[in-house]
Amino acid sequence: METVVSGIRSTGKLHLGNYYGAIKNFLEMQDNYNCFFFIADLHALTTHPTSAEMHQNVRQVVTEYLAAGIDPEKATIYVQSDVPEITELYLYLNMNAYLGELERSASFKDKVRSHPDNVNAGLLTYPVLMAADILIHRATKVPVGKDQEQHLEMARTFGNRFNRLYQNDYFPEPYAFSFEQKLVKIPGLDGKGKMGKSEGEGNAIYLSDSPDVIRKKVKKAVTDSGPTEENQEKPDYIQNLFDLMKIVSSEDTLNHFDDLYNRCQIRYGDFKKQLAEDMIIATAPIRNRINDIANDHEYLQKVVTMGAEKARASAQKTISDVRELIGIKPF
Ligand code: TYM
Repeated sequence: METVVSGIRSTGKLHLGNYYGAIKNFLEMQDNYNCFFFIADLHALTTHPTSAEMHQNVRQVVTEYLAAGIDPEKATIYVQSDVPEITELYLYLNMNAYLGELERSASFKDKVRSHPDNVNAGLLTYPVLMAADILIHRATKVPVGKDQEQHLEMARTFGNRFNRLYQNDYFPEPYAFSFEQKLVKIPGLDGKGKMGKSEGEGNAIYLSDSPDVIRKKVKKAVTDSGPTEENQEKPDYIQNLFDLMKIVSSEDTLNHFDDLYNRCQIRYGDFKKQLAEDMIIATAPIRNRINDIANDHEYLQKVVTMGAEKARASAQKTISDVRELIGIKPF
């Protein structure tokens, strides 16, 4: 059975981008693959959260994984820091990751631009830790959104380089995966790019947002006075709303509003109302389970303890092989 690995950083509540870019695929894969789904708490350290935030955020992601329908009996759910073998592999891989290639990573360049006051070494070697997450289970499929594509390319580079250096074919090549034809990029409500936690309040719809919050956020999304010519191309801040509708609404609804737009008869008030209601319906089953699961401390504890045990068993096997290949052996 093929091995699948993916993780989400514990930096707060999960949003529609996380769901449609990653979790939706997790749910489909858990029945047919050997799945490892983790909470990337070490990756979250680059932004220096307090220890209270760390705890709270890890709990939040575990809760939302379960509320979304990831089944701990089918998939291994664990917290990254519970598996120290990952950081050991990270160290080995760092020896063959070069400054130039790490500096060229698009996500690193983004961070340098957006947070010039916190360009730490952890950010630079972020793709190496991510490669370690994947290679530690020798995974071949990694369900992620479009924004992670370059990181997967780097994971292949580091794995292949290790294989060449130690003259073996130990690590298989991992590839980004989605059941959709292409990797998904869910736009934010502001039309300026992808939906994200750090892209500004109001840009993201969280799985835990109440119906009223969803209505308010969608209502506030920027629109204009409408197209002036038939079949006019949509500007980015309108196209994103249609893209979101494509995800949460039926094809008929989408076609209906597309048609109105093309005939210059769209009323954005009605359009946004429909979009908000369909988002509310799409997220309802998850939202309804979040509170119950969040309060069940014992269950959450059980899930991550069981997950850590299974993940460690797999990781220990890899680390023991890797040490042997490198030549690190008990004296
Ligand atoms: P993170 O925490 O930023 O996002 C988690 C997952 O959600 C996807 N995603 C999106 N997909 C589509 N549209 C969006 N707007 C959107 N926003 C987020 C991401 O593509 C991702 O799949 N580096 C990773 C976490 C990670 C990881 C790994 C993933 C660490 N180690 C190993 C896979 C394998 C990250 O920051 O994701």
